[in-house]
Amino acid sequence: MKTKILKPSAKSISQAAKILCAGGLVAFPTETVYGLGANALNAKAVSKIFKAKGRPSDNPLIVHVSSIEQVPSLVKKIPNNAKVLMNKFWPGPLTLVLSKSPEIPKIVTAGLDSVAIRMPAHKVALELIRAVGFPLAAPSANLSTTPSPTNALHVFEDLHDRISLILDGGSVRIGVESTVLDLTGRTPTILRPGAVTLEQLRKVLGKVKVHKAVHGVKSKVAKVKSPGLKHKHYSPKAKVLLFTGARAKALAKIRKEKSALEKQGFKAGIISISSPKALAKSVFKKFREFDTQGVHFILVAGVEEKGIGFAVMNRLKRAASKEIKA
Ligand code: TXA
Ligand code: MG
Repeated sequence: MKTKILKPSAKSISQAAKILCAGGLVAFPTETVYGLGANALNAKAVSKIFKAKGRPSDNPLIVHVSSIEQVPSLVKKIPNNAKVLMNKFWPGPLTLVLSKSPEIPKIVTAGLDSVAIRMPAHKVALELIRAVGFPLAAPSANLSTTPSPTNALHVFEDLHDRISLILDGGSVRIGVESTVLDLTGRTPTILRPGAVTLEQLRKVLGKVKVHKAVHGVKSKVAKVKSPGLKHKHYSPKAKVLLFTGARAKALAKIRKEKSALEKQGFKAGIISISSPKALAKSVFKKFREFDTQGVHFILVAGVEEKGIGFAVMNRLKRAASKEIKA
């Protein structure tokens, strides 16, 4: 299948809408990462997403809407805290897990009783959802296990023989995937940290928990509640070594480790961006660039685990084969 990359325009968006209406797949930009969309209400269309990505069928998808009015038919009930969050953070990088209505095919939620929903803050994504008139199920538009795509070329690298159209909205604004917040239990619980931060959510909701699987605790319950967390993710081919602790010390250790590795004949790359926001924006891109260069080890300096730093460190810890404390 030949893959076209088109700049967003009225014409290309209507072409994309046509493909989606016929049960096909289209990759499109959002503010977080690129998504691979299909009609969320069409099980057969959604099954193509799993096939194209090589995604395990037990990992559910996020349903993307273009307005809050689309939500009631997708869920059993909208709790009050969900209404408050939608009004405050949508469109934006916050995904809400609510109990699903029968409208949503089982394949979308991997058989769970809940469904994850978000309204992306990106003009092209919103125009596309409006043009088709149905919600789009869309995971990140990468092959399962590779880093999420933050520009159209990344999508092309991974999926070029598997999808027919990529809408090219340039580089994304945020660079890490949305915050996933489960509202089906008694206390709102973060299943995946993102750009809508724990601190922001606590300000609005009061009590908010972080699921223990986010901290890397593996348990049966964790797997059931948050299937995405049990799968390996975000990993480049190179081995990632994460250096945490006092920054100056971590940087000194990184330099030492790099020269030690190079003496042994390995290629090593360094990521030492200190601003958590800037690191979020470029970490997946750097991973891909180093892989293209055939780097064996990527040495990364960690950042403080607060604000968006919590999200970036979550991705780095999951990609890292080793954490070295300075
Ligand atoms: O920023 C994003 O969220 C991007 C863009 C494209 O919107 N999408 C994205 O999708 O990252 P994906 O499929 O790569 O990640 C979806 C995450 C997974 O961790 C999945 O397990 C979780 O959301 N998820 C989806 N439905 C769920 C549900 N019903 N209960 C718990 N977790 C769910
Ligand atoms: Mg993904």
